[in-house]
Parts: sequence; C-alpha cells; structure tokens
Amino acid sequence: MNKKIKVKANANIALIKYWGKRDEKLFLPTKSSLSITIPFLMTFTEIELKEHTEKQDEIYLDGKLAEGKTKEKIVKFLDLFRKLYNIKNYFKINTKNEFPTCAGLASSASGFVALSLALNEICELNLSKKELSILARQGSGSASRSIYDGFVLWHKGEKDDGSDSYAEQLFDQNHWSEFKVLIAIVDEKEKKLSSREAMQITVKTSSSYKKWLIDSEKRIPEMIEAIKNKDFKKVGQLAEVDCLQMHQTMKDSHPSIDYLQPETLKIIEKIKELRKNGTDCYFTIDAGPNVKILCLEKDVEQIKGFVLNTEY
Ligand code: PMV
Repeated sequence: MNKKIKVKANANIALIKYWGKRDEKLFLPTKSSLSITIPFLMTFTEIELKEHTEKQDEIYLDGKLAEGKTKEKIVKFLDLFRKLYNIKNYFKINTKNEFPTCAGLASSASGFVALSLALNEICELNLSKKELSILARQGSGSASRSIYDGFVLWHKGEKDDGSDSYAEQLFDQNHWSEFKVLIAIVDEKEKKLSSREAMQITVKTSSSYKKWLIDSEKRIPEMIEAIKNKDFKKVGQLAEVDCLQMHQTMKDSHPSIDYLQPETLKIIEKIKELRKNGTDCYFTIDAGPNVKILCLEKDVEQIKGFVLNTEY
C-alpha cells in the first residue's frame, strides 16, 4: 500500500512584523521579526508519493483541486524542494486549513510549514528544525517562524545564500500561557493584493519604509525583554506601534496600499475604549482587514462580549 503521511502545523502572528524582502528568490527579509504561534489556527496536510510514471503533482486545497496562482506557488515550492534534496518523486497533497484561507490570517505560514514537515517525513530526510525553517521560509517568509510553538524570532541573517536566515524559539508556549490572541474577522474573502506584491511595492516606493526598518529592528530586543518579564503593557504597546508604522509604510507607497476596512477601524476604536476603561488589550493587523486582539486570559470573555456585541 502507498505510504500516507499526515501532519499538523499552526499559524503565527507577528508582534514585530516582517514586511519586505532583500532577496525575492530566496525569501530573505529586510529585517528580523518576532511572532507568537497560534494553537487554534491549524493546517492539516496529507501527503503520498505518486507512481514513478506520473510526472505531475496533484494538490487539493480545502477539498478542491488547486488551480491558478495558488497551485503555481505550491508547485514552485515542490520543484525547489526536489532540486535542493535531489528528490525524483511527485506528490499527491491534500491540505485543509481550519480557518479562512488568505485573509491575512497567516494560512501561508501554517500551510508551508505543514508541507515542509510532510515532505521531510515522506522522503525520510530527518531535517533539523533549522533546516525545516529555512525550507519553509522559501514557500512563505512568515512560515519560517511556524516551526516552533510559543514566541519565535526569525533572524534576518546577513549571508547571500540565506543559510543564516531562520527562526529560533525564544520561549515555549508554557512560558506565558495567560497571553492570548483573539481574532475579530471582518472579511473572510481572499485578499486582492497578495502580501508578496504589496511588499515589493512598499520596498520600492514607500517614503517611510527605511525609517520603519530602523525603528522596528530596535523594538526586537525591547520586545524580547518584555516577553521575558511578562510585561503585558509593554508587549502590547510595542506590537501596536510596530503594526501601525508598517501599515503607514504601505500607505506611503505608490500606488498607496491599504488593507484596512471601515470595520477594522471601528474595532480598533473599541479596543482603545476598552483600554481607557481599564482593560489591558492591544491590536495587531497583517495584510488583511482582520484584527488580532492581544489580551490576558482573565479578560477574554469581557473583550469578546464588548467587541462582538457591537454592530459594525
Ligand atoms: O509570509 P507572508 O508573505 O505571508 O507575509 C507575512 C507578512 C505579515 O503577515 C504582514 C507580517 C508577518 O511578519 O507575518
């Protein structure tokens, strides 16, 4: 019987963002970034080797045969994998996301990590976590961080070959289990402008991009210290400032890029109102309109009630 491997991977949300590449081919970032892995955002991937006579991959995404750009992206990654590890096989892949795909909820991160883990296992390569992070990075930059649970740092690296651009776990998920991320879904539709294209436009044209690179890189040691000390206010403030400055770099691009929707802004106002009334909560937003709310476990129910019981 044909061997079948099943793996699971989680998405991550960046507290200090990655936005822009210094090498498009190798997915090398312009700066380091720091994230938290989200246990409830999951991708499940099943993989089988195809018969030797078959020279095409067969990919199903959420039950449907993958087509167009999505298929192209995955096949490109599989071709790269075959080349890197001298693999002759083609694969049948069945992948399911337990959350909306491509709506700025980091489905590409968990997707490419799940695929990297599945390929490693089915081809019996025994890759290390570092090697897996480097492999997943070449499918989607943020995927490099989803190799670990907890708080994770992706080193931007200096080398041209990308061998020092990989993720490292800073603290595992037990370090600060009271730290929670809630997701307010504004729009589940696939985004029109991919993060890859938007990053290119920002790097090439944004007037405020260089300043963000410098400021954001400086926030990393501060963020690590704040997480280490479980200083929630500091973590939240740093994450919010970093996210807002990143979105400003997009707005300052030509053409200007704006992933936020009116509902996104209303949720931000709600979060600020909660904070004014004494509840510690902060937000971060990626390449989409959905809002990730950072809070402590004790405040989850109150925040859910306040944000959900509002008409947007
Ligand atoms: O890895 P990509 O291409 O999905 O880019 C992710 C970019 C952000 O989510 C906006 C930020 C980040 O660091 O995850």
